[in-house]
Amino acid sequence: MLDVQKIRKDFPMLNGKKMHGHPLAYLDNGATTLKPQCVIDSVCEYLSCYSGNAHRGDYDLSHEVDEKYEEARRIIQNFIHAKRAEEIVFTSGSTDALNMIAYGYGLTHLHQGDEILLTVAEHASNTLPWFDVAAQTQSIVRYIDLDERGTLTLDNVKKAITSKTKIISIAQVTNVLGFDAPIQEICAYAHSQGIIVVVDGAQSVPHQRTDVQQSDIDFLAFSGHKMCGPTGIGVMYGKYDLLCEMKPTRLGGGSNTRYNSCGVVTLKNPPYKFEAGTPHIEGAIGLGAAIQYIEAIGMENIRQHELQLRNYCIQEMKKIENVEIYNESSLGAIAFNIKGVFSQDAASLFNTYGIAVRAGQHCAKILDDFLEVTSTLRVSFYFYNTFEEIDRFIEVCKKGDDFLDAFFG
Ligand code: ALA
Repeated sequence: MLDVQKIRKDFPMLNGKKMHGHPLAYLDNGATTLKPQCVIDSVCEYLSCYSGNAHRGDYDLSHEVDEKYEEARRIIQNFIHAKRAEEIVFTSGSTDALNMIAYGYGLTHLHQGDEILLTVAEHASNTLPWFDVAAQTQSIVRYIDLDERGTLTLDNVKKAITSKTKIISIAQVTNVLGFDAPIQEICAYAHSQGIIVVVDGAQSVPHQRTDVQQSDIDFLAFSGHKMCGPTGIGVMYGKYDLLCEMKPTRLGGGSNTRYNSCGVVTLKNPPYKFEAGTPHIEGAIGLGAAIQYIEAIGMENIRQHELQLRNYCIQEMKKIENVEIYNESSLGAIAFNIKGVFSQDAASLFNTYGIAVRAGQHCAKILDDFLEVTSTLRVSFYFYNTFEEIDRFIEVCKKGDDFLDAFFG
């Protein structure tokens, strides 16, 4: 059992922050998470005490930065159980990482008629780069069917694969439906067919144990800010051999060993060939601190607490007639609507009670046909959320037929 009240003391925003006079109930953790003091301190410490550049100076200060920056890489390596620290590439977030994979690997490995498999539940960041790469390579984006609940099953993956499939790019946990894909089984089958698997881990890595070697994932993308870290920092993991084959999408200082006036360039080995320019040093250090923080809480404890919150929330929502839930049985975010109320109007009402929820299409715009609604509300939890916050949320959901009156009244 987590001591949530003790944990909450670590978060400045959970100690005094108010919205519309109410204590903040932050239920939009799928969008971003709050930051504990230790992460804030680690970023401030870099900015105040040793803010030199990384990998560029021959003086003590620069060596200190190098050490902390590379230590953050090793913390991430151990966190996702990667074989080598060199397999961890710092990016600006999941979107950047997925773009790097699509343009750096997809563009050079896909040919006319090849197929890329996605699902309709993917986030825009795992869809739009593939559309563009498909157009440039004359390859084809196809979709793996979801089952009637919205789950991705191995059977449906097998049905979608053809002799032309080269890449499968899917979220471990999707950002609206929140189902957990059987990634290990999908990788095993895909690899038996010579297919590369890209995993969008933005909504899974912060919430559950990730083991890229056990799952045999080829590429993994995730963001720091969704796991208590700073914004603007994320990770692209890739198996080392694949990173060696892959082209960097940005070039510049720090990514090469030499070049001459004829344009002959020798790139560094991974990860440095992907990290041109001054990196987001305080972001990397802050992400390292965030991972140490959540690991001390324990990934299994985090998962269990969130599941208990989710189960309780679903149980209480089901008692309310005017609430429609779209993904009762998943494990991530809860997608729902207040019947007859436009989702953004409903979110505004929650806001007036100090409750932050997300409304709209959640950057997953082709999911609407599957859900048969144009927009939804979404609540998403993290380990610092409480049952009391859910009770407050439920009280607002219960406004029933008065919901519109409450909003406009
Ligand atoms: N991808 C983030 C979300 O789902 C921003 O809210």
